[in-house]
Amino acid sequence: MGYQRGLKFGTALTVLIVLVAIYYRNSENVLQKRLQALVQGLEGLENKHVIKSRPKVAIGYGVCTDVYVNAKDLLNYDEQMGRPQHFDEINTELELLKSFAYYFRHGAAAERYMANRTLFDELVNKARSFESSYSTIGGNAAVMALRFAREGCDVTLAAKLTRSLHQMMPQVINIVGGEVKRDDIHLVIEYKHGEVWGPYSSARANRYIIHNDAINPRISSLDAFDKLLSTYEPNLLVISGLQMMDNYPFVDGDRQKLLQKVKKQMTERSPFTKIHFEMASFAEDKLLFELCDSVIPFADSLGMNEQEIANLYNAMYYGNISLVTNSTPRIATVLDQMRTLFKLIRTRGKTIENSRELTRIHVHTLAYQAIFTVKGSMWKNTMAAAAKASLTAHRHVCATSHVDINKAALILDDSFSTSIIDGTRIALDINKPVSCWDETLKVGNEVIPIQVCVAPVLVCTEAVQTAGGGDNISSAGLVLQI
Ligand SMILES: *[C@@H]1O[C@H](CO)[C@@H](O)[C@H](O)[C@H]1NC(C)=O
Ligand SMILES: *[C@@H]1O[C@H](CO)[C@@H](O)[C@H](O)[C@H]1NC(C)=O
Ligand SMILES: *[C@@H]1O[C@H](CO)[C@@H](O)[C@H](O)[C@H]1NC(C)=O
Repeated sequence: MGYQRGLKFGTALTVLIVLVAIYYRNSENVLQKRLQALVQGLEGLENKHVIKSRPKVAIGYGVCTDVYVNAKDLLNYDEQMGRPQHFDEINTELELLKSFAYYFRHGAAAERYMANRTLFDELVNKARSFESSYSTIGGNAAVMALRFAREGCDVTLAAKLTRSLHQMMPQVINIVGGEVKRDDIHLVIEYKHGEVWGPYSSARANRYIIHNDAINPRISSLDAFDKLLSTYEPNLLVISGLQMMDNYPFVDGDRQKLLQKVKKQMTERSPFTKIHFEMASFAEDKLLFELCDSVIPFADSLGMNEQEIANLYNAMYYGNISLVTNSTPRIATVLDQMRTLFKLIRTRGKTIENSRELTRIHVHTLAYQAIFTVKGSMWKNTMAAAAKASLTAHRHVCATSHVDINKAALILDDSFSTSIIDGTRIALDINKPVSCWDETLKVGNEVIPIQVCVAPVLVCTEAVQTAGGGDNISSAGLVLQI
């Protein structure tokens, strides 16, 4: 009896295991089919728009060499280091460890100035000694230039660089600014999702960057760029790389003077030239407030990630800044921040001489892309731009030109709300992956019609690189809109 019962139980168990296996295999198949349909939908949108005329794009400022290293290789966790802590600038190894821990545990991207050149050079040499380390052309402006060139634009980059770095740049990119003896180096310390460092583990794959720039913070290429722009009228001017000024030891007043020059460069452009400002990780509140006064009001378009929008939102709405925020915010939260920022910037712009009317905001996050454009403005193809930005996000992080669904995951839910308060629920349609709708935003007495597009990102589950992602993504979005 006991034996028979055991046998029956055994059989039942086997059957159950087989059923469970079939169930999982089927649900795996369903999942794969969903991802495949999504990729096809996104690629269909991306391919519908071929860039016919070669748009002229001018990009400021800077270039550097990015040296990549795995966090685990370079930084040994030290039990004596104490609590994670934010430092405006980093001088010692202990400060580096504390600062790294501060951002790592949130999976938040960060970029910090290291004043101690001895220590910086030591770290770069140590990083380069690891087999896993490699270097590439870096700097927001340069990475955007490379992407625009690859997409078939006529590209001019404002940057001062060594002859050897110049030779590494594709010849199709026109570089103005002149030569230097030593290129700025950015040490990109990367980590994967769920990586463990001492008692901390990372909420997502990301990077922590340290630099000891001497050329980029001073925008050494600005005057040469001015000269070029006086005779050359690009379709798009991109302002980026200004975060290199963050916590840089300027002589009093020098930074403000530089930013005034940037402002002048923006305000002197004809209405034919659209201006995009690419945000970045700013930790110094004074700099961020200066940007709110002397750069942001003069841009037609803004690009940023989830940390940067939270930071800018806090700066403009509360007058304080946020160093780290949720690295995977809900769509509703980000859309609400975009609405508020749009209204704040447009309202403030009314009282600022020579300001431009903001007509586009692009926020790139790990899980989705969100783009606002004012209806009737010059920005075209918002839906396709969101699709292209989403595909570029995956391709960049996985370092591939082909989306492999085995390395892709969808972390969005089946539906999302358009706002925290009184939002509408929108279901994610796998066959029409980019959701677009119309809204109106009220600024004073003005009612501004906008189009909102949200595209899910096929998150790369085997991250190869995270730095430079935002630059590639922003440029990929812009290129279909100009
Ligand atoms: C700079 O770094 C070196 C090497 O780690 C260290 O010996 C020195 O004390 C640091 N200087 C300052 C001012 O912290
Ligand atoms: C900024 O100020 C607001 C309102 O006072 C507050 O709720 C928020 O926590 C502050 N944020 C930071 C990062 O200090
Ligand atoms: C992003 O830009 C970098 C630098 O130009 C390039 O190496 C990388 O391949 C780009 N990513 C994609 C997805 O093209």
